[in-house]
Amino acid sequence: MTAVGAQRTVRPPALPSLTGLRFVAATAVFGYHYLYLLDGRAQQLFLPVFGRGGAGVGLFFVLSGFVLAWTRQPGDTPRRFYQRRVARILPVYALAWLTAGVVLLALHRRLDVPVAALNALLLQSWVPDWHVYFGWNGVAWSLSCEAFFYAVFPFAIDEKTLRRGRERFDIYCAPCHAKTGEGDGMVVRRGYRRPPSYHTDRLRTAPVGHFFDVITNGFGAMPDLAAQVKVDDRWAIAAYIRVLQLSEHASLDDVPAADRAELDRAPGGPR
Ligand code: HEC
Repeated sequence: MTAVGAQRTVRPPALPSLTGLRFVAATAVFGYHYLYLLDGRAQQLFLPVFGRGGAGVGLFFVLSGFVLAWTRQPGDTPRRFYQRRVARILPVYALAWLTAGVVLLALHRRLDVPVAALNALLLQSWVPDWHVYFGWNGVAWSLSCEAFFYAVFPFAIDEKTLRRGRERFDIYCAPCHAKTGEGDGMVVRRGYRRPPSYHTDRLRTAPVGHFFDVITNGFGAMPDLAAQVKVDDRWAIAAYIRVLQLSEHASLDDVPAADRAELDRAPGGPR
């Protein structure tokens, strides 16, 4: 095996406990679907247990994001990441898409071309009509959602990204928003309009895309910074703002036990 090959096969340690979690999620989803096959008393009996079983899909989404972050190779680029995802998903997806087409044709003697196209492009879940999102290979609706999740934060957030985000934030945003994000930066203390704190509930629950959007298009009295901050850096800043927000709402429980002694030594000690 070449050095490059050897490097590629470096894998993070396995996470056996995840198998157990997958089992719970899969059982919940299975039970939820099984409810539809039951009727009367049997359905009443299982409804309290599996009625919310669909939440298992949400758990799978979270788990899948976690596993993607966990198995990430050091020095990975977005391009290589997407190449690997496409290589992994596309062949199986194409096969399932074709199989569904053959079955639908055999059953109905006709095909719905727009539905076929949306499903081929993983866009079916954008149309809130079950004839569309369930209209081809029904279970693939969740993959359509996952494709959307990939687009929401289009790269992995690692230490390098956050450092870059902090650097850019301190240059382009902190003069007004302050390094803490409180909104009392130097320019504001000299009379510029005070921006809202990032630590309000409204901005803490705003989607990351909102921060990207404000940098790109400006917001009210704030001019846009599209010319100064390039696209990748806008995402890095948005990620760093999330860090700022977390930092103001962290408790001692968020610090790994091994690092708590360090806090006691820090000036001011734990809060
Ligand atoms: C020249 C000062 C200034 C700079 C520089 C600046 N902002 Fe602002 N920002 C403001 C002001 C003022 C507001 C409030 C605007 C309003 O409500 O009309 C604001 C509002 C915001 C908001 C809140 C939008 C909302 O929903 O209320 C966000 C998010 C934001 N800025 C992000 C940024 C980021 C990220 C940067 C750096 C890339 C940045 N700003 C740079 C002055 C600034």
